[in-house]
Amino acid sequence: MKRIAVLTSGGDAPGMNAAVRAVVRKAIYEGLEVAGVMNGYQGLIDGKIELLQLGSVGDIIQRGGTILRSARCPEFLTAEGREKAVRQLKKHGVEGLVVIGGDGSFRGAFELSLLGIPSVCVPATIDNDINGTEFTIGFDTALNTVIDAIDKIRDTATSHERTFIVEVMGRDAGDLALWAGLAGGAETILIPEEQYDVDDIVKRLKSGTGRGKKHSIIIVAEGVMSANALAEIIKKKAGIETRVSVLGHIQRGGSPSARDRVIASQYGARAVEVLQEGRGSVAVGMKNHQVIDYKLQEVFEEMQKSNKMMYRLSKELSI
Ligand code: ADP
Ligand code: F6P
Repeated sequence: MKRIAVLTSGGDAPGMNAAVRAVVRKAIYEGLEVAGVMNGYQGLIDGKIELLQLGSVGDIIQRGGTILRSARCPEFLTAEGREKAVRQLKKHGVEGLVVIGGDGSFRGAFELSLLGIPSVCVPATIDNDINGTEFTIGFDTALNTVIDAIDKIRDTATSHERTFIVEVMGRDAGDLALWAGLAGGAETILIPEEQYDVDDIVKRLKSGTGRGKKHSIIIVAEGVMSANALAEIIKKKAGIETRVSVLGHIQRGGSPSARDRVIASQYGARAVEVLQEGRGSVAVGMKNHQVIDYKLQEVFEEMQKSNKMMYRLSKELSI
């Protein structure tokens, strides 16, 4: 293998740049040429592919977003789109591809592997919803952003003795909400993986008030419902006025945490090693603090389960 390429795809995540840097530097260290593809799969189809040098990835380890830009690309969902992409890769002499993104991007890489392009995936999404790895790049930074917001909301909630509902991203996954709720001391956490009962939420709010608790924080994962919808329900059911805070895309930005920079560096370097070993259709990730690689199919086999023990603990600690 002489030349590989790297792209970032799907929703961006803090630490994607650190992963790009690791891929480029490791590849060059190993004597490979490495090209950057702009704008995810769209750039692949359009042939936006340029060779990168050591200096191309200087001064980016601390930057959020992605210097390669990211995109969602409907054309890549079609067989014709993917064939165009393969033709571009061949034209540019690319023999292996590193895809940095979330689970949709992984599916695209799987299709490319079927078309003969060895593809290795690096998990990067704030949702932390990739099967087979305990951590995705960007999750830790987003979690800290959410915690920072909750701490601030708690100040004003206390001053005004109010109940706040904070809506957290995560698509269909509840990890960000669950971890943030536990770390932020939220009274109630709603995640898509667990049943919720509005009567129980109201009961908890009232019993807190009964014990002299003056404020309350409810974290709702966007995959459950919107914070505004929940506020309406609580008002109708219990006559309790709440304030709503939707954190939105703030959660996707910012300088990556040290932890995200470290795992991005580890994942990116391992991805290059996997390609060098002549393997494709592989994902890299983390298990028990060890960097691992595993078959891409395993990502699609079963839905990621929520951490039941952590959910139970959050309930026990927020009585
Ligand atoms: P993420 O990678 O963050 O989950 P998306 O789900 O939007 O983000 O996926 C990113 C891109 O990956 C899509 O815009 C599309 O180009 C490609 N993709 C997603 N699913 C598939 C699929 N089943 N087959 C081929 N390509 C896909
Ligand atoms: O997958 C990352 C994510 O931020 C999800 O948490 C969220 O549901 C989605 O992307 C938002 O996507 P967009 O930026 O396209 O609105």
